[in-house]
Amino acid sequence: MIAGMRCAVCGTTVDIAVPFPWRCPNATEDDPYHVLHLVEGLDRPSLLDDPNPFVRYGPRLAWWAFARANGMTSAACEALTREVASEFGITPFERSAALSAELDLDLWVKDETGNVAGSHKARHLVGILLHLRAAETIGMLSDRPPLAIASCGNAALAAATLAAQAGWPLDVYVPTWMDDAVGERLDQLGARIHRCARRPDDPAGDPAMLRFREARSAGAIPFTVQGPENGLCLDGGRTIGWEMADQAAGAGIELDRAVIQVGGGAFAACVGAGLGREVRLDTVQAEGCAPLADAWERVVAIDRPERYWSQVMRPWNDPRSVADGILDDETYDWIADVRVMVESGGAPIVAPETDIVRAHEMATAAGYRVSPTGSAGLAGVLSERSRIHSGHRVAVVMSGVAR
Ligand SMILES: Cc1ncc(COP(=O)(O)O)c(C=O)c1O
Ligand SMILES: [Zn+2]
Repeated sequence: MIAGMRCAVCGTTVDIAVPFPWRCPNATEDDPYHVLHLVEGLDRPSLLDDPNPFVRYGPRLAWWAFARANGMTSAACEALTREVASEFGITPFERSAALSAELDLDLWVKDETGNVAGSHKARHLVGILLHLRAAETIGMLSDRPPLAIASCGNAALAAATLAAQAGWPLDVYVPTWMDDAVGERLDQLGARIHRCARRPDDPAGDPAMLRFREARSAGAIPFTVQGPENGLCLDGGRTIGWEMADQAAGAGIELDRAVIQVGGGAFAACVGAGLGREVRLDTVQAEGCAPLADAWERVVAIDRPERYWSQVMRPWNDPRSVADGILDDETYDWIADVRVMVESGGAPIVAPETDIVRAHEMATAAGYRVSPTGSAGLAGVLSERSRIHSGHRVAVVMSGVAR
């Protein structure tokens, strides 16, 4: 069971019974370089036999431990999950015969394209929502401050889908160039859209992110898939890794590695945490935006690199790729990503744009209705192919339905 949270930078701990543990208490506007990570307790709670992953793995989740520490029963936690996360089911994880033959590998695909809002993103967010709903139930939250997110892609769609279902107001901060189809869908879901043009007196950085931070300072809840903004996003995302581990065991196989696409980094961190250190985890970024691979060179050269965050993780200038969902100029969750790579013997892969394009064609031809972002893990396998033994069992996640 999760015992609490601990800042991976300054070491400050937050007990699991404390509500709203979004950010490290020492994070400030001038020093935002902190991130709360989960701390595992000694006991490993047993699973519930259920097709909904948020019920099945519920007792392992941080929001559940928070609710239990504040007097909610396990039955009440389960009932709340069935209300808030009713749409989630265990997604398919199967060997792709076509891709295995083409690559001369045993290639296993976790297909997240049919998950809530068409990607894995809702898994990260629903843990935050469950924490909020539990806090309401316990009597720690009397009104509903708005949820806020800066995104114009899968994370925004997931946030809007969950917020609509919960009847909770959501503000989405988007760049001026947002895709019209995404805008329409967000609008249908009742999200309040804020198009953020750069203002003359704005400091450097993404204006949507600046407006999001202002909203958070004014009391909005960071409903985001970036650990430094809300550490609880690193909770529910682990269900995907647990599912893959259990599905592999159920199929009687052992995975050799997982190759996971990275934007902000929360996804790879959670897959790694769920799969465990026995499965090598490699991260993939496109050659036109690879801040994690860039930081890796500096990270491995120094002791406790998290102390030097702003020097180690440098924003990428002019990110570019057709995999437009992983163009985050910084890998916000680089500390957790580095940890899962170091512990499992993995490394960052930089995929040439030609491999991003080819992987998307191969994935589509193999029957996955996935976006170039969602098939970018496969691009990493292509780029790394000559260094992987033939016949090795490699897992990728196709997330992000083609729109
Ligand atoms: C389909 C898809 N895969 C992977 C990612 C990367 O996730 P993260 O930003 O947590 O690294 C994203 C992020 O937007 C995504 O939309
Ligand atoms: Zn801290």
